[in-house]
Amino acid sequence: MTDADFDYIRKLLVDRSAIVLGDDKRYLVEARLAPVIGQLNLPSITELVSKLRSGSNPAIVTKVVEALVTSETSFFRDISPFEVLRKQVLPELIVARASERRLTFWSAACSTGQEPYTIALTLREYFPELANWQITILGTDISTEVIAKAKQGIYSQFEANRGLPAKLMVKYFKQTGTTWQLDASIRDMVEFRPFNLATAWPALPMFDVVLLRNVMIYFEVPTKREILTRIERVLRPDGYLVLGGSETTLNISDTFCRMERAKGGYYQRREHASLSPG
Ligand SMILES: C[S@@+](CC[C@H](N)C(=O)[O-])C[C@H]1O[C@@H](n2cnc3c(N)ncnc32)[C@H](O)[C@@H]1O
Repeated sequence: MTDADFDYIRKLLVDRSAIVLGDDKRYLVEARLAPVIGQLNLPSITELVSKLRSGSNPAIVTKVVEALVTSETSFFRDISPFEVLRKQVLPELIVARASERRLTFWSAACSTGQEPYTIALTLREYFPELANWQITILGTDISTEVIAKAKQGIYSQFEANRGLPAKLMVKYFKQTGTTWQLDASIRDMVEFRPFNLATAWPALPMFDVVLLRNVMIYFEVPTKREILTRIERVLRPDGYLVLGGSETTLNISDTFCRMERAKGGYYQRREHASLSPG
């Protein structure tokens, strides 16, 4: 791949998704685009780039962007965010929303669905008292490919084993050959939609919990700042923002503050964070 090809691809990716690739990501680009070149029967990345430059086929642009995003995820990823959800956040929300009996969650870069399904499984398994509440779980991602897989709720043995307690696997999944499909009753709890965090947002409901995990690491500070400002507008005043283990709002947003004594990357508006019992 020439320097010009690499720079073109990097610019395309940042323009479309806000994802920034450093100089050291040349190998990653080559490895991830190799299957795309194969599918399109092209001899090299240079040919792919000239197709992209001609602008004649928007589907190729989508294919390239989707091939370059990192969609690594798992059920109950990092464990502690979901322990905090179960032991602290949901009990607090159940008290705070007792009169409305409604809870809304947004997994804002949900990849193949394990994150929003983990919320659904947690609610179904541990909170039978929510059975008559109106529950909304929205799962969104820039990649239509991962959204299609998320909707199916079919996982390989490896994906299902990764993070999912055996008890929940047996209770809520059906095995067909080497794959495991999540029960329709859990799948139906989550609504999936393609959604680009870096372009204009469509109307959204107000959320009690927004999970924005392991995606901001790919963005530059002005993009992170803009996204957090938009999240402020769709998060209820006492709502919770959850970031990935290596992500922070420090030096990006003055509004959010890490919740005291809660592990798992939980943030609230400054005035609420200090009130949390921990
Ligand atoms: C590493 S995965 C994280 C998945 C999940 N949140 C987790 O922590 O396990 C990052 C996801 O962010 C998505 N993504 C990247 N840029 C995005 C953007 N601009 N808008 C929405 N999603 C984006 C990718 O497609 C990918 O599925």
